[in-house]
Amino acid sequence: MSITGAAKLAGIMGWPVAHSRSPVLHGYWLRHYGINGAYVPMAVKPENLRRALQTLPLLGFAGCNLTIPHKEEALRAVDSYEPSAKRAGGANTIVIDARGQIIGSSTDGYGFIAALRAATPSFDPSQAPSVVLGAGGAARAIVAALLDHGAREVRLVNRTPERAAKLAKELGGEVRGVLWKKRAEALVGAGLLVNATSLGMEGQPALELPLDALPTEAIVNDIVYVPLETSLLAAARARGNLCVDGLGMLLHQAAPGFEAWFGVKPEIGDGLRQAILATLQKK
Ligand SMILES: NC(=O)c1ccc[n+]([C@@H]2O[C@H](COP(=O)([O-])OP(=O)(O)OC[C@H]3O[C@@H](n4cnc5c(N)ncnc54)[C@H](OP(=O)(O)O)[C@@H]3O)[C@@H](O)[C@H]2O)c1
Repeated sequence: MSITGAAKLAGIMGWPVAHSRSPVLHGYWLRHYGINGAYVPMAVKPENLRRALQTLPLLGFAGCNLTIPHKEEALRAVDSYEPSAKRAGGANTIVIDARGQIIGSSTDGYGFIAALRAATPSFDPSQAPSVVLGAGGAARAIVAALLDHGAREVRLVNRTPERAAKLAKELGGEVRGVLWKKRAEALVGAGLLVNATSLGMEGQPALELPLDALPTEAIVNDIVYVPLETSLLAAARARGNLCVDGLGMLLHQAAPGFEAWFGVKPEIGDGLRQAILATLQKK
């Protein structure tokens, strides 16, 4: 739809930003709900993040998303941030409040849990140990979300053990670091396995992980979404595990920002999934 002078404005800041699927995602919802609004890509260099954020209220923006490399630095550049951003160690969503204050939050953990619950509504991380591969930005948000939803044991497997230990210390709770070479044994008795490393992503090495020790009742979630069906998901599906792909988290994490800026709680339906899938296949 065409917009008027009263259009609500939001967008995404990143460097680079051209790869981002967020303009397609939010553009789909804006059209679907017939909203007088726009969501634009903003290529912002790291050294300009603070000034770019401070410009948002001056330009009448309702807020924006942040992607690589801005999420962590945003905690120092906003006026205040919500507990979700502190837990995740970064902000991916900015809302300009009624006083023009720049407020940061993280919706990555929310998106992760919402995607799991969409696939399996009864998912409850307190029932069995969770195994998370990776200790980067995405893993941190995921482990924090699992703990906040009652996880009693998280086995955190990372190539660099110091990084896993640091994350475990910062997040508190029952997070136990596991050496990368012990990753296959870590699957014993697990109820959830999450790949939050970049392994298996197009252009990256494959994730090598024998699944023999993983119970067939366990859920397997690969947050890599290019390709959508990773070799981990294919192997897990073949042995009967319930599988959740990375597109779910990508779509669900976008919803709280859209609602805050445009005033509509958006649905994550098949049409949206197909629209984003088309952008993943077209290169
Ligand atoms: N679906 C979604 O919505 C969503 C959201 C965010 C991210 N993601 C995806 O999640 C993945 C991780 O993102 P991130 O932002 O957390 O990245 P990051 O901060 O760079 O972390 C990368 C992680 O991968 C590990 N890793 C990289 N190469 C490895 C190798 N050869 N062997 C073993 N481990 C290796 C790193 O281990 P070290 O600590 O040892 O370096 C680290 O734990 C990416 O594929 C990203 O696209 C998906």
